[in-house]
Amino acid sequence: MKTLIRNIKELVQVEHTPRTMVKGAEMARIDTIKNAYLIVEDGKISSFGEMKDLPEGTYDKEYDATGRMVFPTFCDSHTHLVYAGSREIEYCDKIRGLSYEEIAKRGGGILNSAKRVQEASEQQLYDDAMQRLDEMTAYGTGAVEIKSGYGMTTEAEMKMLRVIRRIKETSPLTIKSTLLGAHGIPMEYRGRQEAFVDLVINEMIPQAAAEGLADFIDVFCDQGFFNVEDTDRMLEAGAKYGLRAKIHANELAYSGGIQCAVRHNALSCDHLEYTGDAEIEALRGSATMPTVLPGAAFFLNMVHAPVRKMMDAGLPVAMASDCNPGSSPSGNMQLILSMACVNYRMLPEEAINATTINSAYAMDVVDQLGSIAVGKKANFFITKPIPTYEFMPYAYGSNKVEKVFLNGELVVCNE
Ligand code: NIG
Ligand code: FE
Repeated sequence: MKTLIRNIKELVQVEHTPRTMVKGAEMARIDTIKNAYLIVEDGKISSFGEMKDLPEGTYDKEYDATGRMVFPTFCDSHTHLVYAGSREIEYCDKIRGLSYEEIAKRGGGILNSAKRVQEASEQQLYDDAMQRLDEMTAYGTGAVEIKSGYGMTTEAEMKMLRVIRRIKETSPLTIKSTLLGAHGIPMEYRGRQEAFVDLVINEMIPQAAAEGLADFIDVFCDQGFFNVEDTDRMLEAGAKYGLRAKIHANELAYSGGIQCAVRHNALSCDHLEYTGDAEIEALRGSATMPTVLPGAAFFLNMVHAPVRKMMDAGLPVAMASDCNPGSSPSGNMQLILSMACVNYRMLPEEAINATTINSAYAMDVVDQLGSIAVGKKANFFITKPIPTYEFMPYAYGSNKVEKVFLNGELVVCNE
């Protein structure tokens, strides 16, 4: 099967020598080709270049992209896509002045979602997540990391992971699965948190590993949730089963979570609102991708991670949606691009790097996704007619994606 996309106004984020991440000042640059073609063979990108160099050949399918641009699909490296029900009443409580931690303390927040996940059937969780995934795909996402974390019991956590496995098997998107056993502290473990940490170590991690249900392990390492000591214990236990860490850190305080992530050679550490000089120093030279979640900071009206300072210090930055019912009920990565530019003063090029190559690294798929490069999976989208690539973050709120291709197949047509 050979497909040609011709007359592309601009082919965005091309790489002749694929990189694993883009750091510091390099983030302000993306390579593009104007008036370009793209050829896909058997689900992979086989060649691209200027129209004047289009090789002669016959194709099973051809698409004309006149006036339109082509981008690699977004990689959303941090989501909690499997959940039951919405939490708009808490959203109103927050507007009235309650903090995230206050809501959590009285059994709302993550525990509210946990109760509903425990009661939901696997089929219901799967159907709801697939519906959300369809919407995200229509906005240009082609790879998603999905966490458990609303189970709170071993049984419900395994149920969530089985739902993620089914999504992995049935969706055309590239999916990664993360065991987030330590997302909140169940009421019955309040005051004896170590016992819950033991449950994660002795039951959840071994069971998830035995059934091959998780690619990564996550912990909510923050003030009022799990401390560094708890996190050390769980990440060490996960590492014994080959689960690389991707942790929630420094969203609510200077929790030591970032240094902890680096110590464990985590693939990423995510949120990072509370990042100071010591945290930046720890991240420098590490293999841990600093990942900022603009949707959560927007929705909770929080301080913003010092992204400019991080890039000035030479760090890479990734961005993801954090799609979840409590702190970011949206998986729209085009909005993340706009938030990156408006709230974090990132250039469009920096925002595009953060949501493609760097977020691909943060979910360990950068060898297959995150850019337009020969041999990578043919996951890309054709935009509607747009004047420039800067228009993508600029025209916030509207869907600029017209057609989405995953593994070289057309899966969405928003015409
Ligand atoms: O990434 N910060 C912790 N966990 C989620 C929120 C989950 C929830 O409130 O349901 C997050 O923002
Ligand atoms: Fe999260």
